[in-house]
Amino acid sequence: MYNSKIIGLGHYVPENVVTNDDLSKIMDTSDEWIQERTGIKERRHVKKEGGETTTSMGVKAAEIAIERAGIAKDDIDFIIFATLSPDYYFPGPGVLVQRDLGIKTVGALDIRNQCSGFVYAVSVADQYIKSGMYKNVLVIGSEVHSKGLDMTTRGRGVSVIFGDGAGAAVLSREEDTSKGILSTHLHSEGQHAEELALLAPGMGGRWVSDIVADDNPDDESYYPIMNGQFVFKNAVVRFSEVIMEGLKTNDLQPTDIDMLIPHQANLRISQFIQNKFRLSEDQVYNNIMRYGNTTAASIPIALTEAWEEKKIKDGDLVVLAAFGSGFTWGSVIIRW
Ligand code: ACO
Repeated sequence: MYNSKIIGLGHYVPENVVTNDDLSKIMDTSDEWIQERTGIKERRHVKKEGGETTTSMGVKAAEIAIERAGIAKDDIDFIIFATLSPDYYFPGPGVLVQRDLGIKTVGALDIRNQCSGFVYAVSVADQYIKSGMYKNVLVIGSEVHSKGLDMTTRGRGVSVIFGDGAGAAVLSREEDTSKGILSTHLHSEGQHAEELALLAPGMGGRWVSDIVADDNPDDESYYPIMNGQFVFKNAVVRFSEVIMEGLKTNDLQPTDIDMLIPHQANLRISQFIQNKFRLSEDQVYNNIMRYGNTTAASIPIALTEAWEEKKIKDGDLVVLAAFGSGFTWGSVIIRW
């Protein structure tokens, strides 16, 4: 009987900072509107000429995580990559990481669960390790949103929120079952699939050849769509439920939480959860102000920064929680 434990963390964000004022020069928006609704002040976007991709950023984050884990690349037994913005429609980025890191021919799996992607990926890694199948699993969440956003006023309700970045964790076997990942909790509700979605290139049943024939660069299927208020209302309910589910499973109370790392969807959502569970600002880590919403990368980036800033100590109860497109949501309960 084993547990799994996070033994290394890393993150990488592109250098290019895009402020709310920068956005207000290319679309009808304002720093005041964005900050008031979302808490976001700036985000990172890859540069057009820089050649950075979801995979290349994931590789950079993974290299840091592996080094901090104190293991060699060839000690990695399995790779899991969570993203909604893969370099290619297929193959997925997991195999590109295996190639670019020069890891031997271990298995590589891609997770397509959007904002909940990292939580789903950690849950899968945890089960592989608990079953004894693998010892060290590399988990990556990485996103390049900027290449696929509608950066005109038409797309402002979505495009001001998202940013680019990557985070990675190495999970490893832990013999002491009172430590490490205590439990994970996953959910989905597909009836709301189109409330937050990107329809291309699957196209919801349309023929790609018809779209190519139409040659319509303004086809909105290529841009993400979001019913913001509906997403917000569902997010606050599901975040609360899945955190409570995780705590109850382990006979714990909200007062036992030392650090909550919520998916960085919107600062107002994080603050709602903080108030609901009566947590102090020190017990909830937020960095959406600096990076925007980086979807599957947001939790590993935030977790890495919280750890680097020594806000997480040995023995702490750390809770990860996410909600997003699908809808999917989930939580991870960790005794650090
Ligand atoms: N700048 C200025 N005005 C804007 C912008 C913008 N960027 N975007 C929308 N508006 C306008 C709208 O056109 C609308 O104008 P109108 O009243 O004249 O029609 C007005 O602002 C209000 O629009 P709403 O969409 O109702 O604004 P709301 O207060 O709901 O805020 C927001 C929008 C920020 C998207 C909010 O709904 C939200 O955060 N929802 C949750 C979204 C979320 O968290 N998504 C990610 C979670 S899942 C995941 O991570 C994939």
